[in-house]
Amino acid sequence: MAGMSKGRSILILYTTKYRLGGRQFPVVAQTLAAEKRASGFDGEIVTRAAESKRDVLEAIAEIRAAGKTISEFIFVGHSGMYGPMFGTTAFPEQFSPYEWEQLDIPFAENATAAFYCCRSARWFAPFFARTFNVPTYGFFWYTTFSRSKEKYVSAGDSADGPLYTIGCMGRKSHGYLAAAKKRLGFMPAEEMKRFEPRPPDGDTSYDHVAELYDAAFQDIRVRQDEWKWLNEHLPTGNIDILDIGCGNGALLYALRDRIATGIGVDESAGIIERAKLKNTANEHVSFQKIDGPVLPFPDNSFDVVTSLMSFRYLDWDPLLAEIKRVTRPGGKFLVVDMVTVPVAAREYPRLLGDKLRTMRNQKSNARFDAALKRLVSHPDWKKMVEYNPIRSEHEMKWYLESRFPGQKMEVLNMAWHSRIVAFDSGPVENGVEVKLTYP
Ligand SMILES: C[S@@+](CC[C@H](N)C(=O)[O-])C[C@H]1O[C@@H](n2cnc3c(N)ncnc32)[C@H](O)[C@@H]1O
Repeated sequence: MAGMSKGRSILILYTTKYRLGGRQFPVVAQTLAAEKRASGFDGEIVTRAAESKRDVLEAIAEIRAAGKTISEFIFVGHSGMYGPMFGTTAFPEQFSPYEWEQLDIPFAENATAAFYCCRSARWFAPFFARTFNVPTYGFFWYTTFSRSKEKYVSAGDSADGPLYTIGCMGRKSHGYLAAAKKRLGFMPAEEMKRFEPRPPDGDTSYDHVAELYDAAFQDIRVRQDEWKWLNEHLPTGNIDILDIGCGNGALLYALRDRIATGIGVDESAGIIERAKLKNTANEHVSFQKIDGPVLPFPDNSFDVVTSLMSFRYLDWDPLLAEIKRVTRPGGKFLVVDMVTVPVAAREYPRLLGDKLRTMRNQKSNARFDAALKRLVSHPDWKKMVEYNPIRSEHEMKWYLESRFPGQKMEVLNMAWHSRIVAFDSGPVENGVEVKLTYP
């Protein structure tokens, strides 16, 4: 084994800023480094704090400049299911999927990657494995610090080693019973899930579900809460509007008589065809396919930019820079989307009211109800959702409210594990700076 690892390195990145628990992450990184060394790895082991995207890039660049390759890429810290977050006390940064795809990491042959952070096995680890062609490990559940890596053993506030980040069920994911099991010392650690760098099996865009989607959402007003909120927040007057992730064009169709122009953009060619068909009679409404977070329009083109049930799929930072560029001073960005979060006990009365209203709406529209059931039970829909999961409420709330300080995300409708939220950016010129720190 000795000498085998020459020229190879293990890169262990960790955060030190996450709420109050930040000082334990470096200890976990040191524990992992000691275990790697003990297992016989004789190359360089780099442990390094990464509080920003720039820190990650610098760490990779230094390894490259030294002529080394990375045989294990490890991150210990905080994440949403779309991947690691950096500098998380005030203004967390995340590489968007597009930004990850642009990174050139000098992986060694037979390299692996591991993300010791919350829910990384849901979307991010499979994505990372496909993107960088390396087997990648992640946790399905939320993570916690533990003295043991086999089961949860509380480390309290201590930052003495050895210390591990383990995935396990807990109060947030499984309620008070799981919390009790943890405290009593019976909660096993989750085994990290391994993902191979296989491309998705078939098409995971909306192309295959375009027809079923169009059948269900022919009339956008079936989304009653969303439509009501949009009406309250759309400016009156003849506006120019850009609808991102426009789907089958039902929103611009419904707005056709009150806008000067409408442009819908979407990454799915199949669904753009549906949008065009629906709007053939509306010459002031057009649609085009986009690839990646680039809006092919001049600066200051629109009064309003909307994203209805699509923000979760988009590359937030790069696209927000584009949205800001194409929005006229004083214009606004309106987001309505679905997020995931378990309902809290204090929210039960609201949940009940929302559930009854939603059921009444669906029952009063049998055609919509049947078409919706056909859509969500279809295998192509299930596959699409697996590769494009919805995001957690705190993640979207944190993101939008940090990018547009002073504005608050609202909840329009609650279900047991998901809810519809809405966000009005307010006038875009009001000191709103999109914080883009990469590249
Ligand atoms: C749930 S549908 C919403 C469609 C429409 N806005 C509505 O409310 O009915 C999500 C849409 O986002 C589109 N989409 C997904 N990823 C995208 C991306 N990266 N860029 C643009 N559109 C995207 C999908 O193709 C799909 O049409």
